Amino acid sequence: MRTVRAVTVTPGVADSLELVEDQPEPAAEEGAILVEALAVGICGTDHEIIAGQYGEAPPGERRLVLGHESLGRVLEDPTGTLQPGDLVVGIVRHPDPVPCTNCAVDEWDMCRNGRYTEHGIKALPGFARERWRLQPRFAVPLDRSLGQVGMLLEPTSIVAKAWDHVERIGHRAEWQPRTVLVTGAGPIGLLAALLASQRGLVVHVLDLATTGPKPELVRALGATYHSTRVDDLDFDPDVVIECTGAPKVVLDVMCKAAPTGIVCLAGVSSGGRTIDFDAGALNRSLVLENNVVFGSVNANRRHWDLAAEALRRADPLWLASLISRRVPVSGYADAYVPGPNDIKVVLEFAV
Ligand code: BGC
Repeated sequence: MRTVRAVTVTPGVADSLELVEDQPEPAAEEGAILVEALAVGICGTDHEIIAGQYGEAPPGERRLVLGHESLGRVLEDPTGTLQPGDLVVGIVRHPDPVPCTNCAVDEWDMCRNGRYTEHGIKALPGFARERWRLQPRFAVPLDRSLGQVGMLLEPTSIVAKAWDHVERIGHRAEWQPRTVLVTGAGPIGLLAALLASQRGLVVHVLDLATTGPKPELVRALGATYHSTRVDDLDFDPDVVIECTGAPKVVLDVMCKAAPTGIVCLAGVSSGGRTIDFDAGALNRSLVLENNVVFGSVNANRRHWDLAAEALRRADPLWLASLISRRVPVSGYADAYVPGPNDIKVVLEFAV
């Protein structure tokens, strides 16, 4: 049997990260499309899984192959959906088997029973292996011009979903948003700001960093960078995309939104910390101003296609500058150690 190299962990066991040299080739049941891995992006969820705080191995297995931000090249597709040589990205989440009312109509990002599975995260092997397979419905073709940055499609799908839901909520009444606040200038925050700028909105990004690449990446979008507290901002945003998950920032942005404002919470907090807060005052302002606060996770096929289009329209140099480090798979351990100025670290399989 042919084997491949794969970056794996034992979920629940801290620091069990290991490059396995003899992972079996992906089984034919995983999908008709056979793909050669080019690269995977690394994100906070990978760090949580490595810390043993998140993640689940496939049924009957002890180890989980990591990697949910994929980029690969098609080797063979007997279904004819894609051609050998095409760039492709794999959709992370698969619908639950029941299925729930949302998964039944392919809105798996809104799964209601929690029995969905996710490549590299929950009960499905990830894309950090030399070859992987996809079913055509989970394969997103990518423009050839995105060969260097295609692994940004997954985080872009997350913000494409966030924006889709902001807009659906906005249209509950006459809606003409002007000002957007994005909190957190990591990959998700920067891509949320990119999609805001593509919508012609006035974009503000808030982050603690005063040095490093973040201020310039924000300015290059035509947006304004703030390293102040939310309370010190001299405007009230119509839309907030909260990407820090920091409890104080989360509460502050809820209070800061303009009347009829929409706050999308896209950052996952770790929990376990309490905060002294006037919940009554917050409720009063949310009610009297018709504000909406909602959470957003994952993305369905429609969002992945919207994200692919957003990346195709973006400045390729700006996208490339989100990638702080490209590490060959042989140096995998280094890739998973966060550096102080890292935006996105990418593990490369083949180039
Ligand atoms: C991924 C999502 C996933 C979420 C929860 C995020 O890092 O980007 O696709 O749904 O983690 O597992």
